[in-house]
Amino acid sequence: MITLRCVTKSYTVGDQELTVLKDVDMTIRQGEFVSVMGPSGSGKSTLMHILGCLDTPTSGSYQLDGQEVAHLTKRDLAEVRNRSIGFVFQNFHLLPRMSAVRNVELPMTYAGVKRTERRHRALELLEQVGLGARARYLPNALSGGQKQRVAIARALANHPRLLLADEPTGALDQRTGQEIMSMFQALHASGMTIVIITHDPNVAAAAQRTIRLVDGVIQEEDAG
Ligand SMILES: Nc1ncnc2c1ncn2[C@@H]1O[C@H](COP(=O)(O)OP(=O)(O)O)[C@@H](O)[C@H]1O
Ligand SMILES: [Mg+2]
Repeated sequence: MITLRCVTKSYTVGDQELTVLKDVDMTIRQGEFVSVMGPSGSGKSTLMHILGCLDTPTSGSYQLDGQEVAHLTKRDLAEVRNRSIGFVFQNFHLLPRMSAVRNVELPMTYAGVKRTERRHRALELLEQVGLGARARYLPNALSGGQKQRVAIARALANHPRLLLADEPTGALDQRTGQEIMSMFQALHASGMTIVIITHDPNVAAAAQRTIRLVDGVIQEEDAG
């Protein structure tokens, strides 16, 4: 499903060139649950932005579902992000003035799903993550774990094939983090392909396989 070959990402800061990912090779098959671990600043988020088509490699090849991402137009990329990929972030990225159900509806709004259908599906998703009774709450009236559940429901809205999560338990206490991880494991059991970025070994252990990144280089891969 995902193939990276010799992917390098560099940023120019002032007159310095900073290479953040160095010759990264990676293959992720459909239905896999993979964690990416590494110290702060090792390039994990940069890698996730590339996997999520939010950013492009400086050099190298990224194929998603057999398509070379560099060959897609901006419009195609936006479409891939909206329809094929679900994103979950450390700080939830919910819109504060919108209720939980409207947050979950957003990706469907962008995809042109009709109002009644998207409301129905959003409520169904909130039910699925155990928040049916909180659908009309604003994010600020929800706990961290509940916010992340809303974010997961939103990530699932357009039936993505790939779920990308960047430190999804990073802002949560340990018990709540474990609840969120159980949710990812259940999604994996139902066939979802998941890539989760973390620096918590307990979180990484929930995945089938761990990829380690140090200073932008893949160090080792081990079975989880
Ligand atoms: N847009 C950017 N411009 C310049 N440097 C960046 C940019 N994004 C990330 N970096 C640098 O790249 C390195 C890796 O960042 P990041 O991928 O966020 O690491 P991680 O998620 O593993 O903590 C850091 O040194 C960071 O400062
Ligand atoms: Mg990061």
